[in-house]
Amino acid sequence: AQNTCILQVVKPRLNACFYTSVTTLERVSVAGKDYDCDEWTNITPKILSYVGRNLHTQKDHPIYIVKEVNLPLFAVFDNLSPVVTVKQNFDSLLTPKDHVSRNRSENYYINKNTVLRAHTSAHEHELIRSGLSAFLMVGDVYRRDTIDATHFPVFHQLEGVRLFNSQQVKKRNYLFQLFSKCEGNTADLTLFENGQETADKQMCHTLETSKLLEFNLKQTIEDFTSLMFKTKLPPLNLNTDVECKWVEAYFPFTHPSFELEIKYNGEWIEMLGCGILKQQILNEAGACDQVAWAFGLGLERLSMKLFDIPDIRYMWTTDDSFLSQFKNHEDFKSIQFKPILSKQPAVANDIAFWIPNDYAMNDFYDLVRSVDDGLVQTVTLVDTFVHSESGKQSHCYRIYYRHTSRALTQAEVNNLHNRIKDAAESQLNVKGR
Ligand code: PHE
Repeated sequence: AQNTCILQVVKPRLNACFYTSVTTLERVSVAGKDYDCDEWTNITPKILSYVGRNLHTQKDHPIYIVKEVNLPLFAVFDNLSPVVTVKQNFDSLLTPKDHVSRNRSENYYINKNTVLRAHTSAHEHELIRSGLSAFLMVGDVYRRDTIDATHFPVFHQLEGVRLFNSQQVKKRNYLFQLFSKCEGNTADLTLFENGQETADKQMCHTLETSKLLEFNLKQTIEDFTSLMFKTKLPPLNLNTDVECKWVEAYFPFTHPSFELEIKYNGEWIEMLGCGILKQQILNEAGACDQVAWAFGLGLERLSMKLFDIPDIRYMWTTDDSFLSQFKNHEDFKSIQFKPILSKQPAVANDIAFWIPNDYAMNDFYDLVRSVDDGLVQTVTLVDTFVHSESGKQSHCYRIYYRHTSRALTQAEVNNLHNRIKDAAESQLNVKGR
């Protein structure tokens, strides 16, 4: 597995590649373009099969429906390519060179300079540079991750960025003047100072700049979420009171930073990250006389909460019994989602193996995803063990098998479980226990 790719382009057809055998791949075709492979390449045929599906532009899809609740004033970009440079995804956002978010175990690299975007923030720099003052980006993003009912290696984000300038810039619309709503003598309010960084602000921002941006940012998001949830009325078991809270956060490209969490099935889940954009990013994008906030919202989480969708895999089904439930919505008040999830309980099967030193859990999750044909709901690490003499480590995973719409037979579960075992042994260099 390490440096060999499990892909081989047999016949480039649309965005798809074909899985053949473990072989060193030279070129890979993604979204109609060819790329050289190298030791960073770890994209799988399964992941490539999701590129171009564009759930967010598919009319009546639950992801499309939530995306359609737009904010006025913002220009919308929903067809930016998910194939981006490492520079766009990380460098332009000041991600430190050794930051874990760059790891090969976290992302789908096409090669060392090219990656499937891990967030829509990858486009901030170019859109700010193009002179926009308020814009939204919607798109599919890719991350290697755990396997459960709320995680899928592809999900969708809606990202918003809004820039402001000081009132001295008369030629611009007052909507973009940060102090336009302040009363009294606003003449000496300034955006910038040569000061200290604190928990509340960046070095070059005045406290009033930072606080006003934070206020405007949180207000915009609260208006947006309550607009979403308030239009939704009973009889769904959702009522208008959605429990939310703001918590402090860290992102390399914003300061201060915040997260909005909402209660989902009794658990707090992170729905959105946001903050005041680091001034260096604006300066490098040619907007040094402006300040800005940004937020990035996970559309699956919002949509699952709104429509009570119990499993993220539903988003990818082409099954009409799912999609037809969202047809002809005037607004989403009228949508009442009936889960078609099989009434059968999940079937749990364990798998245990000795792991090599360079093993990453996401390698195993990705392998399960590649072999799975829609049966795996959750994978959890249930036990780790270190052999006292050899120092060798073992991991035991529990795989829960559950289809989104039908009961499973023991035979098909066993068959898939064995295929996962074999694939792990042959591709991850692990030894079954
Ligand atoms: N890009 C961040 C993420 O994917 C979210 C974010 C967007 C945070 C904009 C701050 C500002 O987690």
